[in-house]
Amino acid sequence: MLKGKKIILGITGSIAAYKAAYLLRLLVKEEAEVQVLITPAGKEFITPATLSALSNKPVLGTFFETNDGTWHSHVNLGLWADVMIIAPASANTIAKMATGICDNLLLTTYLSTKCPIFVAPAMDLDMFAHPATQKNISLLIERGCKIIEPSTGVLASGLHGKGRMEEPEQIVEILKDFFENKIPQKSLAGKRVMVTAGPTYENIDPVRFIGNYSSGKTGIAIAEELIKRGAKVDLIINSHLLSSREKELYFNTLGTARSEVISADDMYREALKIFPKVDAAIMTAAVADFKPAKYSQKKIKRNDKNLTIELSPNPDIAAKLGQIKKSNQILIGFALETHDEEVNAFKKLISKNLDFIVLNSPSTKGTGFMTDTNEITIIDKNNFKKKYPLKTKKEVASDIIDELEKLLKK
Ligand code: CTP
Repeated sequence: MLKGKKIILGITGSIAAYKAAYLLRLLVKEEAEVQVLITPAGKEFITPATLSALSNKPVLGTFFETNDGTWHSHVNLGLWADVMIIAPASANTIAKMATGICDNLLLTTYLSTKCPIFVAPAMDLDMFAHPATQKNISLLIERGCKIIEPSTGVLASGLHGKGRMEEPEQIVEILKDFFENKIPQKSLAGKRVMVTAGPTYENIDPVRFIGNYSSGKTGIAIAEELIKRGAKVDLIINSHLLSSREKELYFNTLGTARSEVISADDMYREALKIFPKVDAAIMTAAVADFKPAKYSQKKIKRNDKNLTIELSPNPDIAAKLGQIKKSNQILIGFALETHDEEVNAFKKLISKNLDFIVLNSPSTKGTGFMTDTNEITIIDKNNFKKKYPLKTKKEVASDIIDELEKLLKK
C-alpha cells in the first residue's frame, strides 16, 4: 500500500513527461505524499502548474525561490523521502547520475538521499541502445538503483529494453510490490561467477577453421540470470556467430567483464587466470576437442590430391579446473550426448570433478545448438537426476542458477 508513503517524483526532459502527470495522479489517489522535483528541461515538456495542482504541493525545480530567496535543501528532501522515483529519466539525467554531476535540485537530491531509487528511462531507441547510455544504466544498477522497463514490466536485469517509459499503472504496481517486500532480493549479491560460452575455432590456415554450431546463447542467458540475481560475472566467450546487433544488445548491457576468445587454448588461458577469483564456474562452451597439429601460415592451395589434416588434442578446460578447484568453489559442466546420455553425462561429471552436470541431448526436437529452447536433465554427484520439460533458454538458465544457489548456500 502506498498510503502515507513519502515519494519524490523526479521529472526530466523527455516527451514522456506527460505520463508523469498521470503517474502523479495515481500516486496521489493511492494517498501517497508526493513531492515533485523537475529539471529545467522537464519544464519544457510539462508545466509545474499542472504538477503542483495534482500533488497539492509546490513543485521544486531550483535551489532558491527567486522571489523570496527560500532555499530548498536537497539533504532534507533526501531524508524526508521513503523512496525516490525518476520518471521519465532522460539519457542526459541518467548520464549525470552515473557520473555524479549535480547541477540541479533533482541531481543533488539523488546524490544525497539514502532512500531506495527507482529510475524509469524514457528516450528514443538509438539513444537508449547507445553504448554510453547502456553503460550508464549498468552503473546505476551496480549502485543499487532499480531500473523500471516496459519490456518485462518488472525490474530490469542485464539486458535493457527499448527506451519507452513504463506505463504509470505498472510503475505504481512496482512501488506497491516494493513496499510490500515482494521484489526479489539479490540472492547472489557478493558472489562472482565465471561463465564460458560459445564455440571455439581452431585455425587451419589464415582463412579456415574447425568449429561447431554453438551460438553462445545459453551462456549469455546464464550470465544475464546471474547478473539479475546480483552476482558479478566473468564471461569468456567466442561470440563470432552472433550478429553485431546481438552483440551490442547483449554485451553493452551485461555490465560485466568479458573476454573474447577464439580457440580452446585462448579459453583455457583466460579460464585459468579468472577461476581462482570466483565462487563458481559454469562451463557452457562447446570446446573443440581437437585442433590442427600444424597451423599453415599460408592459405592451403587446392590440388587434386586428398588432404589430410592431423589433429592434436586440446586442453580439457573443465577437467583442469576440476583438478585445481578449492572445496568452496562450485564447478558446473554441460554435456551434449547422442547415446547413453545419462550414463555418459555422469561419467563426465566424475572425470572432470564437477558438482553437477547439465545434460542436453541433440536428439530431442528444439534442443541444443542454434535454437532458443532446451530440454535439460541436471545430474548431481550422487547421480540424482532432475528432468525438466522443454523451456526457453532463459527459463533453463534460471533453473540452473536455482541449483547453483542451493550449493553456494551450503
Ligand atoms: N569442456 C571443456 N574443455 C574441453 C572440452 C569440454 O571445458 N576441451 C567442458 C564443456 O564446456 C562442458 C563439459 O566439459 O561443460 C563437457 O563437454 P563435452 O564436449 O560434452 O565433453 P568432452 O569432455 O569433450 O567429451 P566428448 O566430446 O568425448 O563427449
